[in-house]
Amino acid sequence: MPNQDLVAIVLAAGRGTRMKSALSKVLHPAAGRPLVHFPVRAALAAGASRVVVVVSPENHDSIAAYLSGAFGRERVRFAVQDPPRGTGDAARVGLTSARSPSRVAILCGDTPLVRAEDIQALVSALDHTPGAELSFMTCTLSEPGSYGRVLRDQAGEVRAIREAKDLESAEEARIQEVNAGVYAAHAPFLSQALEGLRADNAQGELYLTDVIAAAAARGGALGVAGSEEAMLGVNDRADLAEAERRLYQRIAVQHGRAGVTVRGAPRIDDTVTIASGAIIDDGVSLRGRTEVAEGAMVDVGCVVTDSKIGENAMLKPYSVVIGSVVGEWAEVGPFAHLRPETQLDEKARVGNFVEVKKTRLRRGAKASHLSYLGDGDIGENANIGAGTIFCNYDGFKKHRTVIGANAFIGSDSQLVAPVTVAPGAYVATGTTVTSDVPEDALAISRVKQENKPGYSKRLKARLQAVAREETEKLKVDGTK
Ligand code: UD1
Ligand code: MG
Repeated sequence: MPNQDLVAIVLAAGRGTRMKSALSKVLHPAAGRPLVHFPVRAALAAGASRVVVVVSPENHDSIAAYLSGAFGRERVRFAVQDPPRGTGDAARVGLTSARSPSRVAILCGDTPLVRAEDIQALVSALDHTPGAELSFMTCTLSEPGSYGRVLRDQAGEVRAIREAKDLESAEEARIQEVNAGVYAAHAPFLSQALEGLRADNAQGELYLTDVIAAAAARGGALGVAGSEEAMLGVNDRADLAEAERRLYQRIAVQHGRAGVTVRGAPRIDDTVTIASGAIIDDGVSLRGRTEVAEGAMVDVGCVVTDSKIGENAMLKPYSVVIGSVVGEWAEVGPFAHLRPETQLDEKARVGNFVEVKKTRLRRGAKASHLSYLGDGDIGENANIGAGTIFCNYDGFKKHRTVIGANAFIGSDSQLVAPVTVAPGAYVATGTTVTSDVPEDALAISRVKQENKPGYSKRLKARLQAVAREETEKLKVDGTK
């Protein structure tokens, strides 16, 4: 196994002050995961047997808790750098707890777009170039800004990296080839070079980039051209937004390649799984542990969090689904709201302006319009009419409403829980159900209708007279 002895060091002890946040920079989420997740995953995918994350005393606990949960305690370890004396010092701290591997990859915790291929390219250059001690990713930028510049000699060999704050001439400032901040090196060389670092520079820090000059002095520094995207580092929240935009774009392309129809620009979190043949439309947000099965359709503007969408189910536009299960061929929306612990069985239907919470609609049951269904169980093929309300809350406790199979709940009914409507029963329109309805019975509670012949005409005349009288009075008062 060629990568057996590759260890990755991820630098994440910096203060991240430009985020203006109490939350550690590398724990800010992008596309559903903390930033630091991405470089750690890329390093493991590139073949690193272990990743050492360099943290500060302040962010150690939160970063360790997250990463150990996500990748396991074996593969990801932590080293505390205190105080932060620069990237070279951070790398030294990381390497000290890396248990002498033969090769090391170094990356930053705040570069979520770096990919396994980028790291592999560096490792491969190191492996296949005789005499090489270190390789690093470079990129040519029209505006090199605050990045370290790559200094090369006339033969084109890398000599050193000059940090932006230490540029020595206008000529150096014009160099467009910059250091992306991703490295691979032979461990014995790196260890020795890091010990030799000195803080005699503009920032008074130990620069990791100074090891490039040390490698070059031995004729062993390789600058390997990489993609501009891979080096995008997050320093403030504008960078965070840009990184997230690109992550979403990348995720959409991955799903497209895997047979999912992705229309427009949905925001699909990295944590979401989608089977081939599903359709995800523009403006959709899929979050958390959401799973979308084959043939399901999530139409424009839906927001789905921690939910399972079954085969061939249809979420019509602008529906919000949280912590719910939508069964095969079930239909939701448009403009429906499924709150946690809702379960729609096969072919159940929930239509527009229906809110459902902690309620199961069994096979073929439907509530097509304008209802609130909370803490209920609705039997197979039961029909819930427009404007039905489950009155589940008495101000102190929640109570359950149980509707049997094939029951019919007429429009504008209220079911005052706890209450049961047995299978096949019929609740007449406008009924307030306060006690259980037996099987196949009719429940009706509304006041009997009375028609008064001619009354409408008389009533209208009377009201009109009153209105006219008042207008006249106003006129008289106004002319006084
Ligand atoms: C660094 C490089 C620069 C390169 C750029 C690419 C150095 C000296 N410069 O500059 O050549 O163009 O990255 O993005 O390395 N960190 C620690 N402990 C410290 C200081 C930093 O863990 O004491 C971590 C930070 O959390 C961050 C990473 O190291 O994840 C890089 O540090 P940062 O200060 O952002 O370096 P740059 O100035 O961007
Ligand atoms: Mg940086």
